[in-house]
Order: sequence, then structure tokens, then C-alpha cells
Amino acid sequence: MRVVLAPMEGVLDYRMRDLLTQVGSYDLCVTEFIRVVDQVLPDRVFHRYCPELIDADVYGSCTKAGTPVRVQLLGQYPEYMAENAAKVIELGSSGIDLNFGCPSKTVNKSRGGSILLKDPENLYQIIKAVKDAVPSDTIVSAKIRLGYEDKSLAIENAQAVEAAGASELTVHARTKVEGYKPPAHWQWIAKIKNAINIPVIANGEIWNLDDAIKCREVSGCTDVMVGRGALTIPNLGQVIKQESGIMPWLDVLAMLSAYTEFETHGDKSKYYCNRIKQWLKYLKNHYQEADELFVEIRRLKTAEEIKAAF
Ligand SMILES: Cc1cc2nc3c(=O)[nH]c(=O)nc-3n(C[C@H](O)[C@H](O)[C@H](O)COP(=O)(O)O)c2cc1C
Repeated sequence: MRVVLAPMEGVLDYRMRDLLTQVGSYDLCVTEFIRVVDQVLPDRVFHRYCPELIDADVYGSCTKAGTPVRVQLLGQYPEYMAENAAKVIELGSSGIDLNFGCPSKTVNKSRGGSILLKDPENLYQIIKAVKDAVPSDTIVSAKIRLGYEDKSLAIENAQAVEAAGASELTVHARTKVEGYKPPAHWQWIAKIKNAINIPVIANGEIWNLDDAIKCREVSGCTDVMVGRGALTIPNLGQVIKQESGIMPWLDVLAMLSAYTEFETHGDKSKYYCNRIKQWLKYLKNHYQEADELFVEIRRLKTAEEIKAAF
């Protein structure tokens, strides 16, 4: 079984990947999406989203804990997606993931993300172009939702992904219109899985071991991807693999402190304050102590004040 850490723009960046893969038995990370329009992006953009690429020749595009990181691209033009994908592979990424699930209005307006689920032919063209542009053994994966407004094209889209030569498919079991509202329709993942022959990774609403067991049962998938759940229970990978119970609050606190260290050594902007508050909001779904800490730091504006509260 693989447990994959979900791409989460503005949340699951390389610092978080670093911390989570140190504790959690995660098998693969996917970066936040990198928006591709009509140009080949400079190296520095890829390095910003995926600093793991900087030493890729030594460590093979892995987090410090040794977990492979795959770069995710989001775009609508096959030729530019292909050129950028080729570059990402040259830079050392362990594969390419293509985003066809992003619900953002801005992205969808310019025909990127989940809007492409209305057009399986376009989906096919993008994946095929990317596949043709990279070495034949490169992993090219796709991440889709069940559709845009409805699920009528779910199977057709999955078949287009397979026909274009993708190595695997992650399905976030909701349409764009369903947003992040529970439930996730895991039974639809089963329908998709039965219609194609490439590995399928099940995603959506896996917050704990019970959810993972149920999701695997209903979807028929062995592999799962977790996003918000991993921010709520940082060692969710271990929990799902039944290697460990849920980590105690004191260990979580040590992770929060380690996050503080990143800040001390790097970014001096509001970045840290916002991110730590955001993380605590997820943590408080499970840890009462996170709720108390959140109340304490909610109004604090500087990293120094927050560190003192810790
Ligand atoms: C804040 C946020 C940012 C996200 N950013 C991305 C992204 O960059 N690329 C992507 O494919 N999915 C993105 N997603 C979707 C997640 O990868 C995942 O499919 C979704 O959260 C459902 O999984 P979960 O219930 O385990 O969180 C994002 C979700 C959230 C909540």
C-alpha cells in the first residue's frame, strides 16, 4: 500500500513536506501546482516550488527523509505543458503530475484545472504531449476530480488519461461543483478503476484509519492520497499503515517548534505567522491542545510573539 501526500497550494510546501515525511511513512509527495501558460518557466520557479530539485543529482528529488517528490504542472496548452515537463525532468524530478482538478475561478477562466474535465480530448492531448516530450520511462501521472458540474464524463476522462499513456491516476472523488463538501464519492473511484488498467490512487475525506479502511474497501484501491488529514494527524501515513497510533500532542508540539526553526533561518515575512495559524486550524480538528494554542496566538502578529507563546 502507498500513502501519498497530496499537493496543497499555499499549505503543503517543502518545509511541510520535510516535517511530515520525517514522521509519517509517506511514500510519495506531489508539489503544489505550478501554473504553466505560454512560456517555458525559468529554473528558479521550479526550484522555488520544489527546492528538493536543487540537489536532485545527489538525493534524487527526495525530501531529507528520502521520500520522492513529483512536480505538479497545471496548464491548458499541450505544447507548453510538454516543454515545461521536459525541463522539470531534466532538472531531476522523479516524475510529473498533471493537475486536472483545480477549482479556482481564475485558473478555470483561463481554461486550466478542473474545467478541462469538460473536454476529454483536450485532456488526452495534454497528457500525450507531455508523455511524448519526456523519456519513455518517466512517470507521468494525472489528478482528476469526478467532473466539472456533474459526473457524466468521469469514465471518459479516466479512459482519456490512460489512452494518452499516463502511468497512474489519482481521483479526488468529487466534482468541481462539489468543492470540498463531504462526502467524497469513493464508489465512483471503483467505477473508474474498473474501467481502466493503470493504477488508481483514491483521494478525498480520508482523515483517519477508519476512513482509509472504508475508502479502500469501497474504491477497491490499495493506494490512497491524503491532504487535510495529514495536517490534522501528522503521522497519518503510519496510522493508515497500522505501524503506529496517532502521535501524541508533545510530538506535534516538537514539529511546530521545528517549523519555527525554519522561520528563524529563513523567511522573515508574515509567511510563518499565517502558516502556523493555518496548520493549527487543521490540528485542532483532532488535538484539543491545538485549539487552546490557536486561541492564544490568534491575534499575535509576529513570529517572535508566537515563538514566545510556544
Ligand atoms: C488548501 C488546498 C490546496 C490545494 N492545492 C492543490 C494543488 O495545488 N494541486 C492539486 O492537485 N490539488 C490541490 N488540492 C486538493 C488536494 O490535493 C486534495 O485532492 C483534496 O484536499 C482532497 O483530499 P483530502 O480530503 O485528503 O484533503 C488542494 C486542497 C486544499 C484544501
